Amino acid sequence: MINLILKTVEWKDNKVVMIDQTKLPNQLLYVEFSDYNQVADAIRNMVVRGAPAIGVSGAFGLALAALQSSAETKDEMISDLQKAKKILFDTRPTAVNLAWGLEKIMKTADSGNSADQIRELIINEAKKMADQDIEINKAMGKNGSVLFDNNDTIMTHCNAGALATVGYGTALGVIRATKERGKNVKVIATETRPIQQGSRLTAFELKHDGFDVSLIPDTAVGYTMANKLVNKVIVGADRILRTGHVFNKIGTYQVATMAKQNKIPFYVAAPLSTFDMKSHPEDVIIEMRNGTEVTGIGDKKTAPDGINVINPAFDMTPPELITAIITEKGVAKPPYEESIKKLFEANK
Ligand code: MRU
Repeated sequence: MINLILKTVEWKDNKVVMIDQTKLPNQLLYVEFSDYNQVADAIRNMVVRGAPAIGVSGAFGLALAALQSSAETKDEMISDLQKAKKILFDTRPTAVNLAWGLEKIMKTADSGNSADQIRELIINEAKKMADQDIEINKAMGKNGSVLFDNNDTIMTHCNAGALATVGYGTALGVIRATKERGKNVKVIATETRPIQQGSRLTAFELKHDGFDVSLIPDTAVGYTMANKLVNKVIVGADRILRTGHVFNKIGTYQVATMAKQNKIPFYVAAPLSTFDMKSHPEDVIIEMRNGTEVTGIGDKKTAPDGINVINPAFDMTPPELITAIITEKGVAKPPYEESIKKLFEANK
């Protein structure tokens, strides 16, 4: 039996230990890294994925880089960390939590006076970030749980659960918190092609934790909504702009549009570390992934050789489709430019 109380990513004996999510749901395999380049590969190949989980993994990657470095002075250490930061940063471009995690560690490094002190400081800071991720998700869950009622059937897309974070989850954290407060809820998980985070991870995680969960193909979103099989939607996010534009797993925009058409509330749950208060929609890089993810399922080919493929990993949902954005510091409602600004000002 898989125990999801275990963390998705963790620092243990000066190594980074993570669940290999590419092997789920068939195998629970933990992988262990002592080289930051291995952590970069793990992020790139989606051994670890989900915005908050890759943010913390990036931070742990820099902690490994500090241990690997033979620097003797602060300047040498900062220079080694900068090289590692670039390699880690270049792995996945859309989720802003990765940049947030790396920047936070670089700032901590800068506060140290010697190479040895920097090593100690950043290991502690990365561990603290991992612990805080769970606390933040629980606070978000509490804030979001008031928006859900007894007997709701909630649709979610991709995996924004314990596996996308250090533990508990963002969107699934809100669903967990709702259930923990005694409300009986059912969940509909979309399959989320092409990587199938919905069927491989969300359905697995919720079923394991005793939720009433039904899996649907992505193509059945309209059917389930039009036939009143779902009455609320909640998803996570990879990047939220100050205007309330939400970047999340490819297909989120379709789900949100269909929710609007069927007058179903559409919620987003994300920590403040997922907000990018500087960029405009056109600045955000949408990661384009390998076509082989679309031309096959697992090892089985499902498309002709030589076919052109367009495989964006994320899309943008505009603010007018979003009912509310749930964070650990409160719930933002439209107009988002004002409500998001207030959340940040209150938490300076
Ligand atoms: O490509 P992935 O699996 O890293 O994408 C993950 C998502 O889009 C999640 O919905 C998002 O990161 C929110 S996770 C709490």
